[in-house]
Amino acid sequence: MVTAGSGAVVVVGGYGAVGHATAEMLAEWFPGRVLVAGRDPARAARAADAIGRGTTWRQVDVTSAADRARLSADAALVVMAVERANVAVAQEAVRRGVHYVDVTASPQLLRPLTDLDQLAVRTGSTVALSVGVAPGLTNLLADECLRELPAADTVELTLMLGTGDPHGRDSVRWIVEQAATASVGTAGAGVGGGTDVGRPRRTRVDLPGVGRRAVFPFPFSDQHVLTARHGVRATTRMCLDSRVLTWTLFAGRSSGLFRLARRLRLDDVLVSALVWARVGADRFVVRASASRSSGPAVTRAVAGRGTSQVTGAVAAVVARQVLTGGTGTPARVSAGVRHIDQVTGLADLVAELSRHGVMLE
Ligand SMILES: NC(=O)c1ccc[n+]([C@@H]2O[C@H](COP(=O)([O-])OP(=O)(O)OC[C@H]3O[C@@H](n4cnc5c(N)ncnc54)[C@H](OP(=O)(O)O)[C@@H]3O)[C@@H](O)[C@H]2O)c1
Repeated sequence: MVTAGSGAVVVVGGYGAVGHATAEMLAEWFPGRVLVAGRDPARAARAADAIGRGTTWRQVDVTSAADRARLSADAALVVMAVERANVAVAQEAVRRGVHYVDVTASPQLLRPLTDLDQLAVRTGSTVALSVGVAPGLTNLLADECLRELPAADTVELTLMLGTGDPHGRDSVRWIVEQAATASVGTAGAGVGGGTDVGRPRRTRVDLPGVGRRAVFPFPFSDQHVLTARHGVRATTRMCLDSRVLTWTLFAGRSSGLFRLARRLRLDDVLVSALVWARVGADRFVVRASASRSSGPAVTRAVAGRGTSQVTGAVAAVVARQVLTGGTGTPARVSAGVRHIDQVTGLADLVAELSRHGVMLE
């Protein structure tokens, strides 16, 4: 049990695929303080019951201003394991000096959340971003590579998702929505960006335990954070463990199939089909590679099982670091907007995640 202050540790989306894993781990460390929040009272109550250790629940719709105010009123920290009204939830939390952890992968949320930095410093709140697998582990892997090769000007990030992984509905919806957008992978448009570094292309990479795979640019927020903070040209690409589904996903993107599905209001049907169609394994791999011009590259990779579980666990570890003021590397977590590398180190985090089969490759 960890004792750090008082106040509720709220997990919004706490009975979703990511949020449930977060709430479960936090309840071990902060018994009697975890509160599971979401719109469905029956699901919230069932999750709180299953997690136990004094976990409570609250019916909350974060699109309602009144609910957002209630959410932060008695909280010490809010974990956002859903992508709805994130900036409004963060503003309410930071105004009250409540810490805020967000697993969002969306680059368009980086700037409005980063704009809360000054207010957060004044109220003593920490806003932790780039939390999860991608972003999250990808940022930490890239940092390791850049530490080893400080002169690097290019960082290539790769995520291989397992199609047998029990992905939550919102995660699948996010992938389909991003696949439906025309513009992808232009790093520099997020935090402090502004330099359009052009359109990255499909390439092939060697993934540990998988082999050589075709990987496609995808608009995860990690590449924007790395470009803004390290001045490198960063690109994130992804593939699925199934070659057939990878080509289907990206053929669907280039043919406009997902945009058509959205226009025909069939995107919900498509998301449901993808949530239930588990055809592969649950293993994921993330890899970062840093290089300068055509010189040798430094590469690091991590593999694990269950992207949602691991994302939830990363959020829990980050929340604990923020609540306790930090232990390990780095030793302190200061107030303001911080990214995962300013809250925890790769080796410490991988050790914490070993129960999810996460290991350095
Ligand atoms: N950083 C990473 O590596 C990473 C990895 C995976 C996922 N993610 C992100 O994590 C988020 C959650 O994904 P997931 O797979 O856990 O989704 P999920 O299983 O569908 O869970 C979403 C949760 O949010 C709740 N929710 C939805 N609308 C809400 C609202 N207006 N107010 C309060 N609660 C609301 C849902 O419950 P109700 O609908 O009943 O309210 C549900 O509990 C997504 O945004 C995804 O992009 C990030």
